[in-house]
Amino acid sequence: MGDPMSGTWLKNVTVIRDGRQVLRDVTLRAADGELLVVLGSSGSGKSTLLRVLAGLNQVGSGTVIINGRDVTKLPPGERRVAMVFETSALIPFLDVSRNLGWGLRAQRLPDTEVKERVKDLARQLRLSRLLPRRPDDLSTGERGLVGIGHALVQRPDVFLLDEPLAGLDAAERPRVRQEIVHIVRSLGATTFFVTHDQAEGLAVADRVALLHDGAVVQVGTPRELYERPVDLFAAGFVGTPPIGLLPARLVSAGGQAAFTVGNRTLPLWRAVPPPLRDHVGREVVLGLRAEDVHDPTAGNDPDSVALAAVVREVEYTGRRNVVTVAVGAPPITARGSEVSGDKSRGATLRSFFPPRSVIRPGAAVTVAVKASSAHVFDAVTGRALWHP
Ligand SMILES: Nc1ncnc2c1ncn2[C@@H]1O[C@H](COP(=O)(O)OP(=O)(O)OP(=O)(O)O)[C@@H](O)[C@H]1O
Ligand SMILES: [Mg+2]
Repeated sequence: MGDPMSGTWLKNVTVIRDGRQVLRDVTLRAADGELLVVLGSSGSGKSTLLRVLAGLNQVGSGTVIINGRDVTKLPPGERRVAMVFETSALIPFLDVSRNLGWGLRAQRLPDTEVKERVKDLARQLRLSRLLPRRPDDLSTGERGLVGIGHALVQRPDVFLLDEPLAGLDAAERPRVRQEIVHIVRSLGATTFFVTHDQAEGLAVADRVALLHDGAVVQVGTPRELYERPVDLFAAGFVGTPPIGLLPARLVSAGGQAAFTVGNRTLPLWRAVPPPLRDHVGREVVLGLRAEDVHDPTAGNDPDSVALAAVVREVEYTGRRNVVTVAVGAPPITARGSEVSGDKSRGATLRSFFPPRSVIRPGAAVTVAVKASSAHVFDAVTGRALWHP
C-alpha cells in the first residue's frame, strides 16, 4: 500500500446517534481485494460501520475512502459498492430472476448479459430452481440467498456484507459461506464481511477487525487474534471453546519467574521477561486455551502442575468432550472482565477429554497446566502483557 489513499477505509470516523457515540474514532483499512471481517457482539457498531461505507449513515467526523477515492460527501449511488443487509429486502412483485437482475438493468446492461449473469450466479448459489418464484414463496433462508445473490451479481468494486448468512440454517451456512468467499475472491473485490460469529469470521477472513462498543479493539489475521489477543476482551471473544482465565500472582524467586495460583506454584523456568517486570508481586490473569489444559492421567509433562478442580460441564462433540472445570483459586477482581466471577465457583478452565472418559459434572478432578503456555494479562486493565 504505497499510495497513502489506496484501499477502502474509514479514517478517524465518529458517528453519534441520540447523543451517544456508536462509532468512536474508527480507523480501519482494507487493502484492495482483501476480505476483511468485522467481528463484534450485538450493538458494537458493525452495521453502522458498513452503512457509513455505503453512504447510508452520515459521519459526525472523519473520512470515508473507497478504492482510494474520498467519498465522504458522495451519495450511496455514486460509491460503487453493493451491500447485503441483515434482512434482505426483495421486491415482492418480481420473481427471483428479476429480483437478482434489477440492479444490473438499472445500470443499463444489455438484456442478454443480465440473463447470463443471473443464470450463472443462480447456478453457483444453487438457487436455479427458485428463479421463477416470488419472494413470498421462499423460505427465510432462500430469501437470504437471493439477497446475497443480488449483491454478488453486480460485481462491484466493494462488497459490504452484513451478517449475510444470518437467515440460513446451520447446515447450509458453511456451503454458502464458501460460495460467497469463492465469488468475491474470483472477482478480486474488496469485501467487508460483518459477523458476530467468531468461528465464521476466523474461517473466511484475510484479517479480522474486532469491534467493541463502537471502537476497534484489534485488527489482525485470524491467527494473530487467536495467538496474540491484545486484552481480556479479545481473548474471551475469539476461540472455541472460550479461553480459560485463572487469577494468579506473579512472583520472582532466585531470579526465576513463577505464578502462584492458590497454594500452587507454576514456574516459568526463566527469568522474569521484560514486559512482566513491572508486575512482579502483582495480580495477573493467566489465559489458558483448552488445548493447554490437560488431563494429567493421560500423560506426564514434567513442566506442568496439577490443579484440583471440580467438573462443571461435559459437552460431547464427537472426537472429544469439552470439559469445563472450576479451579478453586482465590477470585480477584478484574475491571471489565468476568475473572472474579462467583466467589464460590472459582476460576473456569476448559479442557478436552477423550469421549470414553467417565467423568461427570460434580466430579473432583485434577487438570495439568504449565506457565509457559499461558497468556498473561494485567488484572486491573485487562491488557495483555505476555503471550506464550
Ligand atoms: N437510528 C439510530 N438511533 C439511535 N441509535 C442507533 C440507531 N441505529 C443504531 N443505533 C445504536 O447504535 C449502536 C450500534 O448499532 P449497530 O446496528 O451498528 O450494531 P451491530 O453491531 O450491527 O449490532 P447487531 O449485531 O445486533 O446487528 C447500537 O447501540 C444501536 O442501538
Ligand atoms: Mg448489525
